[in-house]
Amino acid sequence: MSLAHEVNSRHGKPTGSGSPGNSGESHVDGDQPRPVAASPRSDVDHHRSHIDRLIDERRPGYCLDAPFYLSDEFYAEDIEAVFASTWIFAATAAEMPEPGDFVTLDIGSYSVIIIRDDDENIRAHHNVCRHRGARLLTEAAGSLGNIVCSYHQWTYSPEGDLMSAGVQAPDFDRSCFSLRSVNVEVVAGLVFICLGTPPEDFAEVAARIAPYIEPHALEQTKVAAQVDLIEHANWKLVMENNRECYHCEAGHPELTCTFFPTYGYAPEDIPKRLKPAYQRFLAAEERLAENSRRNNLPTALIEELSGRPTGFRIERAALDGKGESYTMDGSAASAKLLGDLDTPELGRLSMHTQPNAWFHFMGDHAVTFSLVPLGPDKTLVRSTWLVHEDAVEGVDYDLENLTAVWTKTNEQDAALCARAHQGISSPAYLPGPYAPTENDLEEFCTWYIERLKAHRTQTEKQTAERQTAEPQTAQRQSAEPQTTEPQTTDQGGRSR
Ligand code: FES
Ligand SMILES: [Fe+2]
Repeated sequence: MSLAHEVNSRHGKPTGSGSPGNSGESHVDGDQPRPVAASPRSDVDHHRSHIDRLIDERRPGYCLDAPFYLSDEFYAEDIEAVFASTWIFAATAAEMPEPGDFVTLDIGSYSVIIIRDDDENIRAHHNVCRHRGARLLTEAAGSLGNIVCSYHQWTYSPEGDLMSAGVQAPDFDRSCFSLRSVNVEVVAGLVFICLGTPPEDFAEVAARIAPYIEPHALEQTKVAAQVDLIEHANWKLVMENNRECYHCEAGHPELTCTFFPTYGYAPEDIPKRLKPAYQRFLAAEERLAENSRRNNLPTALIEELSGRPTGFRIERAALDGKGESYTMDGSAASAKLLGDLDTPELGRLSMHTQPNAWFHFMGDHAVTFSLVPLGPDKTLVRSTWLVHEDAVEGVDYDLENLTAVWTKTNEQDAALCARAHQGISSPAYLPGPYAPTENDLEEFCTWYIERLKAHRTQTEKQTAERQTAEPQTAQRQSAEPQTTEPQTTDQGGRSR
């Protein structure tokens, strides 16, 4: 859907007073913006003013207007303003246990290589050859010694240094053509990347969540299973669906064997039919508090889902049934507990990080979920189950038992999200109000609008700076001889 076909906006005609900035430009790594597909100026301004109006007039407490979920323009905006401008969860370190192990991740037009280098640090590089730009790695994951471009065999180390480039001119300087790095941080075994200028609040968030996750010792886990599901829905509908359990009671019979359906309810708002579940929850919370104290596990809820670039929520909460794991009866799925934990009855440590991930860490295993938009109406949801690295399939855990609840739940959610996307695609759609139990959705939309506005401000600033600089550059260039010296553009961090 194009904004030109926008329907059912709550608001009147475009004001025509759109922002002067962000006129169809994209940026990477804090480099100078590079132009993208040019359209006639009036079309660009028209689309921009539509986007700006919808952003500025978002109605708090309500679902977003249809174009946010359906339009190509908002999809492009989401990639740049959200997925290329914030820290996103990309992988688990357990997916790259050995030097040379890598995964690739495509985000919009970007493609990133995440690789463990020879010093066992995890690095991230743009998956773009520095010769003539070919995509370097096309596999989703694998293991290699060096990264070799299949076009003309330029060869890079896992650290991203150009090692060989065939026959070149005598003054060719290999050090000028390292792979362009992507910011990467590993927090307690979880790999986050940021394609653009990284928001500065990530280190503080990492320091606060790490003590919760570290006891689960993710660096000593292995991937027991990974499932990619393509959902036919906009990525924001997938996130919204995940942020509420209003639909759990009716929609997730397997999940509600262990997940208390009272999630999201204030105690005074719990419906009568859910009172028995709430009583079980209170008793389970008491046992969980004692087990957590003994294992020195932080449990307090931290909820900062909006008002900051790196929005997050983390808490430890009880599970129903045996209270140990996400299985059909709540008992542990893996006999080898994570880290030094002395009991499997530790409920779930649940975390959500804007914009694209949620996690559950139990005593016996962890499961991570990440999403990547594949288009306005298509979203990749990746689920990864981690067990102790010494756990043996068929001995310590049964794969079917380990994965059953979330496999079923994901399929059910995919159907619900597709149905939501279908409904919103109708010209009859009007945004409805979020229920009190859907507060996290309101937080998500608030954060999302904040990010779009922040990106717009940043782009306007860059445009103004460029316009100021251009006349000076033109003057200088007419007065000075041109230089063709190549520039290195590498920047960004690395850590484990
Ligand atoms: S494009 Fe990669 S070596 Fe030529
Ligand atoms: Fe669900």
